Amino acid sequence: MKALTVALVAVLFGCVFGLDQTLTKHWKLWKELHSKKYFDAEEHVRRSVWESNLNLVQTHNLQADLGQHTHWLKMNKFADLTSEEFVKQMNGFNMSLRTNQQMDRHEFTRSSNVKLPDTVDWRDQGYVTDVKDQGQCGSCWAFSATGSLEGQHFKQAKMLNSLSEQNLVDCSTAQGNQGCNGGLMDQAFQYIKENMGIDTEDSYPYEAVDNQCRFKKDTIGATDTGFTDIKTKDEEALQEAVATVGPISVAIDASHPSFQLYSHGVYNEIFCSQIRLDHGVLAVGYGTDSGKDYWLVKNSWGKGWGMDGYIKMSRNKRNQCGIATAASYPMV
Ligand SMILES: *[C@@H]1O[C@H](CO)[C@@H](O)[C@H](O)[C@H]1NC(C)=O
Repeated sequence: MKALTVALVAVLFGCVFGLDQTLTKHWKLWKELHSKKYFDAEEHVRRSVWESNLNLVQTHNLQADLGQHTHWLKMNKFADLTSEEFVKQMNGFNMSLRTNQQMDRHEFTRSSNVKLPDTVDWRDQGYVTDVKDQGQCGSCWAFSATGSLEGQHFKQAKMLNSLSEQNLVDCSTAQGNQGCNGGLMDQAFQYIKENMGIDTEDSYPYEAVDNQCRFKKDTIGATDTGFTDIKTKDEEALQEAVATVGPISVAIDASHPSFQLYSHGVYNEIFCSQIRLDHGVLAVGYGTDSGKDYWLVKNSWGKGWGMDGYIKMSRNKRNQCGIATAASYPMV
Protein backbone atom coordinates (compact mmCIF):
# COMPACT_ATOMS: atom_id res chain seq x y z
CA MET A 1 0.00 0.00 0.00
CA LYS A 2 2.77 2.35 0.99
CA ALA A 3 4.78 1.44 -2.07
CA LEU A 4 1.73 2.08 -4.25
CA THR A 5 1.20 5.50 -2.70
CA VAL A 6 4.83 6.38 -3.27
CA ALA A 7 4.57 5.22 -6.87
CA LEU A 8 1.36 7.17 -7.38
CA VAL A 9 2.83 10.30 -5.90
CA ALA A 10 5.90 9.84 -8.07
CA VAL A 11 3.74 9.50 -11.17
CA LEU A 12 1.66 12.54 -10.26
CA PHE A 13 4.69 14.68 -9.57
CA GLY A 14 6.33 13.27 -12.65
CA CYS A 15 3.43 14.47 -14.73
CA VAL A 16 3.27 17.88 -13.18
CA PHE A 17 7.02 18.23 -13.36
CA GLY A 18 7.05 16.97 -16.95
CA LEU A 19 4.39 19.51 -17.96
CA ASP A 20 6.29 22.32 -16.32
CA GLN A 21 9.47 21.21 -18.05
CA THR A 22 7.78 21.19 -21.45
CA LEU A 23 6.40 24.66 -20.83
CA THR A 24 9.84 25.90 -19.80
CA LYS A 25 11.33 24.34 -22.92
CA HIS A 26 8.74 26.12 -25.09
CA TRP A 27 9.34 29.39 -23.25
CA LYS A 28 13.09 29.11 -23.98
CA LEU A 29 12.48 28.27 -27.63
CA TRP A 30 10.06 31.18 -27.99
CA LYS A 31 12.59 33.58 -26.42
CA GLU A 32 15.30 32.33 -28.78
CA LEU A 33 13.06 32.60 -31.83
CA HIS A 34 12.20 36.24 -31.03
CA SER A 35 15.61 37.21 -29.60
CA LYS A 36 14.11 38.17 -26.25
CA LYS A 37 16.34 38.96 -23.27
CA TYR A 38 15.01 39.97 -19.88
CA PHE A 39 16.62 41.17 -16.67
CA ASP A 40 16.13 38.96 -13.59
CA ALA A 41 12.84 40.23 -12.20
CA GLU A 42 11.32 40.84 -15.63
CA GLU A 43 11.76 37.21 -16.68
CA HIS A 44 9.14 36.19 -14.12
CA VAL A 45 6.62 38.83 -15.13
CA ARG A 46 7.07 38.20 -18.86
CA ARG A 47 6.73 34.46 -18.45
CA SER A 48 3.45 34.78 -16.60
CA VAL A 49 2.07 37.17 -19.24
CA TRP A 50 3.28 34.76 -21.93
CA GLU A 51 1.55 31.85 -20.18
CA SER A 52 -1.74 33.69 -19.95
CA ASN A 53 -1.49 34.62 -23.65
CA LEU A 54 -0.70 30.96 -24.39
CA ASN A 55 -3.94 29.99 -22.64
CA LEU A 56 -5.85 32.54 -24.69
CA VAL A 57 -4.31 31.37 -27.99
CA GLN A 58 -4.85 27.65 -27.28
CA THR A 59 -8.46 28.12 -26.23
CA HIS A 60 -9.24 30.41 -29.17
CA ASN A 61 -7.61 28.06 -31.69
CA LEU A 62 -9.46 25.04 -30.33
CA GLN A 63 -12.72 26.96 -30.76
CA ALA A 64 -11.63 28.06 -34.25
CA ASP A 65 -10.88 24.44 -35.19
CA LEU A 66 -14.42 23.62 -34.03
CA GLY A 67 -15.80 26.27 -36.38
CA GLN A 68 -16.59 28.93 -33.78
CA HIS A 69 -14.18 31.54 -35.18
CA THR A 70 -13.03 32.48 -38.68
CA HIS A 71 -9.49 33.42 -37.64
CA TRP A 72 -6.68 31.85 -35.63
CA LEU A 73 -4.12 33.29 -33.21
CA LYS A 74 -0.43 32.59 -32.63
CA MET A 75 2.36 33.13 -30.09
CA ASN A 76 4.13 35.87 -32.06
CA LYS A 77 6.72 38.40 -30.85
CA PHE A 78 4.01 40.35 -28.97
CA ALA A 79 3.02 37.32 -26.83
CA ASP A 80 4.95 38.62 -23.79
CA LEU A 81 2.91 41.85 -23.63
CA THR A 82 -0.40 42.41 -21.87
CA SER A 83 -3.12 43.98 -23.96
CA GLU A 84 -2.71 47.29 -22.09
CA GLU A 85 1.05 47.37 -22.71
CA PHE A 86 0.55 46.50 -26.33
CA VAL A 87 -1.99 49.25 -26.95
CA LYS A 88 0.23 51.82 -25.24
CA GLN A 89 3.23 50.80 -27.32
CA MET A 90 1.44 50.65 -30.64
CA ASN A 91 -1.07 53.51 -30.52
CA GLY A 92 0.04 55.68 -33.41
CA PHE A 93 -3.10 56.90 -35.12
CA ASN A 94 -4.68 59.67 -33.06
CA MET A 95 -7.69 61.62 -34.39
CA SER A 96 -7.24 64.35 -31.82
CA LEU A 97 -4.00 65.36 -33.58
CA ARG A 98 -6.09 66.69 -36.47
CA THR A 99 -5.17 70.36 -37.02
CA ASN A 100 -7.41 73.18 -38.20
CA GLN A 101 -4.88 74.18 -40.85
CA GLN A 102 -5.99 74.56 -44.44
CA MET A 103 -5.31 71.28 -46.26
CA ASP A 104 -5.45 70.21 -49.89
CA ARG A 105 -8.34 67.87 -49.18
CA HIS A 106 -10.62 66.42 -51.88
CA GLU A 107 -13.62 64.09 -51.74
CA PHE A 108 -13.74 60.77 -53.58
CA THR A 109 -16.53 60.75 -56.14
CA ARG A 110 -18.02 57.41 -57.05
CA SER A 111 -18.72 56.62 -60.67
CA SER A 112 -22.14 55.18 -61.37
CA ASN A 113 -22.53 51.77 -62.99
CA VAL A 114 -18.99 50.63 -62.49
CA LYS A 115 -18.71 46.85 -62.27
CA LEU A 116 -16.15 46.04 -59.61
CA PRO A 117 -14.10 42.83 -59.65
CA ASP A 118 -14.82 40.22 -56.95
CA THR A 119 -11.17 40.02 -55.96
CA VAL A 120 -8.40 42.63 -55.94
CA ASP A 121 -4.77 42.22 -54.84
CA TRP A 122 -2.46 45.08 -55.88
CA ARG A 123 0.61 43.08 -54.86
CA ASP A 124 0.16 41.10 -58.09
CA GLN A 125 0.43 44.34 -60.13
CA GLY A 126 3.67 45.50 -58.48
CA TYR A 127 2.09 48.34 -56.46
CA VAL A 128 3.23 47.18 -53.02
CA THR A 129 6.66 47.15 -51.33
CA ASP A 130 7.79 44.48 -48.85
CA VAL A 131 6.29 44.44 -45.36
CA LYS A 132 8.16 46.84 -43.05
CA ASP A 133 8.54 46.97 -39.26
CA GLN A 134 7.77 50.11 -37.25
CA GLY A 135 9.40 48.74 -34.06
CA GLN A 136 8.54 50.35 -30.70
CA CYS A 137 7.44 53.68 -32.16
CA GLY A 138 3.89 54.94 -32.77
CA SER A 139 4.64 55.67 -36.42
CA CYS A 140 2.02 53.43 -38.07
CA TRP A 141 0.53 56.55 -39.71
CA ALA A 142 3.84 57.11 -41.58
CA PHE A 143 3.90 53.51 -42.86
CA SER A 144 0.30 53.73 -43.98
CA ALA A 145 1.03 57.01 -45.81
CA THR A 146 4.18 55.74 -47.59
CA GLY A 147 2.28 52.58 -48.56
CA SER A 148 -0.45 54.37 -50.47
CA LEU A 149 1.97 56.88 -52.04
CA GLU A 150 4.27 54.03 -53.13
CA GLY A 151 1.24 52.59 -54.94
CA GLN A 152 0.12 55.86 -56.55
CA HIS A 153 3.68 56.70 -57.61
CA PHE A 154 4.04 53.26 -59.18
CA LYS A 155 0.74 53.75 -61.01
CA GLN A 156 1.96 57.00 -62.54
CA ALA A 157 5.71 56.45 -62.98
CA LYS A 158 5.79 52.63 -63.33
CA MET A 159 8.53 52.57 -60.70
CA LEU A 160 8.15 51.11 -57.22
CA ASN A 161 10.16 53.34 -54.90
CA SER A 162 10.19 52.41 -51.23
CA LEU A 163 9.63 55.69 -49.36
CA SER A 164 11.01 57.04 -46.08
CA GLU A 165 8.84 56.84 -42.95
CA GLN A 166 11.65 58.45 -40.95
CA ASN A 167 11.34 61.51 -43.20
CA LEU A 168 7.69 61.81 -42.12
CA VAL A 169 8.42 61.05 -38.45
CA ASP A 170 11.13 63.75 -38.26
CA CYS A 171 9.75 66.47 -40.52
CA SER A 172 5.92 66.67 -40.50
CA THR A 173 5.36 68.25 -37.07
CA ALA A 174 4.24 71.55 -38.65
CA GLN A 175 1.33 69.62 -40.21
CA GLY A 176 0.26 68.33 -36.77
CA ASN A 177 2.08 64.99 -36.55
CA GLN A 178 4.05 63.96 -33.46
CA GLY A 179 6.53 61.37 -34.76
CA CYS A 180 6.63 58.27 -32.56
CA ASN A 181 3.81 59.74 -30.45
CA GLY A 182 1.34 59.51 -33.30
CA GLY A 183 0.06 61.23 -36.40
CA LEU A 184 -2.42 61.14 -39.28
CA MET A 185 -1.91 59.93 -42.84
CA ASP A 186 -3.65 62.97 -44.39
CA GLN A 187 -1.26 65.28 -42.55
CA ALA A 188 1.64 63.23 -43.92
CA PHE A 189 0.28 63.67 -47.48
CA GLN A 190 -0.06 67.40 -46.80
CA TYR A 191 3.57 67.60 -45.62
CA ILE A 192 4.76 65.81 -48.79
CA LYS A 193 2.86 68.31 -50.93
CA GLU A 194 4.18 71.37 -49.06
CA ASN A 195 7.70 69.90 -48.95
CA MET A 196 7.49 69.05 -52.66
CA GLY A 197 8.54 65.45 -52.07
CA ILE A 198 9.51 62.65 -49.72
CA ASP A 199 12.89 60.91 -49.67
CA THR A 200 13.47 57.27 -50.62
CA GLU A 201 13.79 54.64 -47.89
CA ASP A 202 17.43 53.97 -48.85
CA SER A 203 18.49 57.62 -48.60
CA TYR A 204 16.66 58.23 -45.31
CA PRO A 205 16.44 54.86 -43.47
CA TYR A 206 14.10 54.06 -40.62
CA GLU A 207 15.32 54.51 -37.02
CA ALA A 208 12.15 54.02 -34.91
CA VAL A 209 12.91 57.11 -32.77
CA ASP A 210 12.18 60.83 -33.15
CA ASN A 211 15.12 62.64 -34.68
CA GLN A 212 16.02 65.89 -36.44
CA CYS A 213 14.70 66.50 -39.93
CA ARG A 214 17.34 65.50 -42.49
CA PHE A 215 15.31 65.73 -45.72
CA LYS A 216 17.45 66.08 -48.88
CA LYS A 217 15.85 67.18 -52.11
CA ASP A 218 18.29 65.24 -54.34
CA THR A 219 16.95 61.92 -53.04
CA ILE A 220 13.20 62.43 -53.48
CA GLY A 221 11.36 59.18 -54.25
CA ALA A 222 7.85 60.56 -54.90
CA THR A 223 5.62 63.57 -54.37
CA ASP A 224 1.90 64.35 -54.16
CA THR A 225 -0.48 67.25 -54.80
CA GLY A 226 -2.79 66.72 -51.83
CA PHE A 227 -5.12 63.89 -50.91
CA THR A 228 -8.60 62.44 -51.34
CA ASP A 229 -10.83 61.31 -48.47
CA ILE A 230 -13.33 58.50 -49.05
CA LYS A 231 -16.86 58.97 -47.71
CA THR A 232 -16.74 57.95 -44.08
CA LYS A 233 -18.13 54.55 -43.00
CA ASP A 234 -19.03 53.63 -46.60
CA GLU A 235 -17.52 50.22 -47.40
CA GLU A 236 -18.89 50.28 -50.96
CA ALA A 237 -17.09 53.55 -51.65
CA LEU A 238 -13.93 52.07 -50.13
CA GLN A 239 -14.32 49.00 -52.33
CA GLU A 240 -14.57 51.18 -55.43
CA ALA A 241 -11.51 53.18 -54.36
CA VAL A 242 -9.45 50.05 -53.68
CA ALA A 243 -10.54 48.53 -57.02
CA THR A 244 -10.01 51.62 -59.18
CA VAL A 245 -7.34 53.74 -57.47
CA GLY A 246 -4.90 51.30 -55.82
CA PRO A 247 -3.83 50.65 -52.21
CA ILE A 248 -5.70 52.95 -49.81
CA SER A 249 -4.64 54.23 -46.37
CA VAL A 250 -7.10 53.17 -43.68
CA ALA A 251 -7.36 53.63 -39.91
CA ILE A 252 -8.67 50.86 -37.65
CA ASP A 253 -9.34 49.85 -34.07
CA ALA A 254 -6.43 47.46 -33.44
CA SER A 255 -6.62 47.53 -29.65
CA HIS A 256 -7.79 43.96 -29.04
CA PRO A 257 -5.71 40.91 -27.98
CA SER A 258 -7.14 39.12 -31.02
CA PHE A 259 -5.35 41.64 -33.26
CA GLN A 260 -2.13 41.58 -31.24
CA LEU A 261 -1.88 37.79 -31.61
CA TYR A 262 -3.60 37.37 -35.03
CA SER A 263 -2.28 34.52 -37.15
CA HIS A 264 -4.51 33.82 -40.19
CA GLY A 265 -8.10 33.56 -41.40
CA VAL A 266 -10.73 36.29 -41.71
CA TYR A 267 -10.37 38.48 -38.62
CA ASN A 268 -13.66 38.97 -36.79
CA GLU A 269 -13.79 40.91 -33.52
CA ILE A 270 -17.25 41.63 -32.14
CA PHE A 271 -15.85 44.16 -29.65
CA CYS A 272 -14.21 46.25 -32.39
CA SER A 273 -15.16 49.93 -32.53
CA GLN A 274 -16.05 51.95 -35.64
CA ILE A 275 -14.87 55.20 -34.09
CA ARG A 276 -12.09 54.52 -31.59
CA LEU A 277 -9.37 54.20 -34.22
CA ASP A 278 -5.77 53.78 -33.08
CA HIS A 279 -3.81 52.21 -35.95
CA GLY A 280 -2.97 53.22 -39.52
CA VAL A 281 -2.57 50.44 -42.12
CA LEU A 282 -2.96 49.88 -45.87
CA ALA A 283 -5.85 48.19 -47.73
CA VAL A 284 -4.19 46.53 -50.75
CA GLY A 285 -7.17 44.51 -51.92
CA TYR A 286 -10.28 42.56 -51.00
CA GLY A 287 -12.04 39.28 -51.73
CA THR A 288 -14.08 36.44 -50.26
CA ASP A 289 -12.64 33.50 -48.33
CA SER A 290 -14.89 30.52 -47.44
CA GLY A 291 -17.95 32.73 -47.84
CA LYS A 292 -16.52 35.55 -45.71
CA ASP A 293 -15.87 38.92 -47.35
CA TYR A 294 -12.51 40.38 -46.36
CA TRP A 295 -10.24 43.38 -46.82
CA LEU A 296 -6.61 42.45 -47.53
CA VAL A 297 -4.57 44.70 -45.25
CA LYS A 298 -0.81 45.33 -45.08
CA ASN A 299 0.45 45.96 -41.54
CA SER A 300 3.84 47.40 -40.45
CA TRP A 301 4.81 44.92 -37.72
CA GLY A 302 7.22 42.77 -39.75
CA LYS A 303 6.59 39.51 -41.62
CA GLY A 304 6.31 37.46 -38.42
CA TRP A 305 2.93 38.98 -37.55
CA GLY A 306 -0.23 37.60 -39.20
CA MET A 307 0.01 36.16 -42.71
CA ASP A 308 3.55 37.25 -43.66
CA GLY A 309 2.70 40.67 -42.25
CA TYR A 310 -0.84 40.83 -43.69
CA ILE A 311 -4.33 40.40 -42.24
CA LYS A 312 -7.70 39.61 -43.79
CA MET A 313 -10.19 41.88 -41.99
CA SER A 314 -13.98 41.38 -42.09
CA ARG A 315 -15.63 43.29 -44.97
CA ASN A 316 -19.29 44.28 -45.30
CA LYS A 317 -19.78 43.60 -41.60
CA ARG A 318 -21.01 47.03 -40.53
CA ASN A 319 -17.66 48.72 -41.06
CA GLN A 320 -16.03 46.42 -38.53
CA CYS A 321 -13.05 47.98 -36.70
CA GLY A 322 -13.81 51.23 -38.54
CA ILE A 323 -11.91 50.24 -41.66
CA ALA A 324 -13.97 52.64 -43.81
CA THR A 325 -14.21 55.44 -41.23
CA ALA A 326 -11.07 57.40 -42.19
CA ALA A 327 -9.81 56.07 -45.56
CA SER A 328 -7.79 58.23 -47.97
CA TYR A 329 -5.08 58.29 -50.62
CA PRO A 330 -2.59 60.84 -51.97
CA MET A 331 -3.07 62.48 -55.37
CA VAL A 332 -0.03 62.40 -57.64
C1 LIG B 1 -3.85 61.84 -28.68
O1 LIG B 1 -3.32 63.12 -28.76
C2 LIG B 1 -3.75 63.97 -27.73
C3 LIG B 1 -3.23 65.37 -28.04
O2 LIG B 1 -1.84 65.37 -28.16
C4 LIG B 1 -3.25 63.43 -26.40
O3 LIG B 1 -3.68 64.27 -25.33
C5 LIG B 1 -3.78 62.03 -26.20
O4 LIG B 1 -3.23 61.45 -25.02
C6 LIG B 1 -3.43 61.15 -27.39
N1 LIG B 1 -4.11 59.86 -27.25
C7 LIG B 1 -3.44 58.71 -27.20
C8 LIG B 1 -4.28 57.51 -27.05
O5 LIG B 1 -2.23 58.63 -27.29
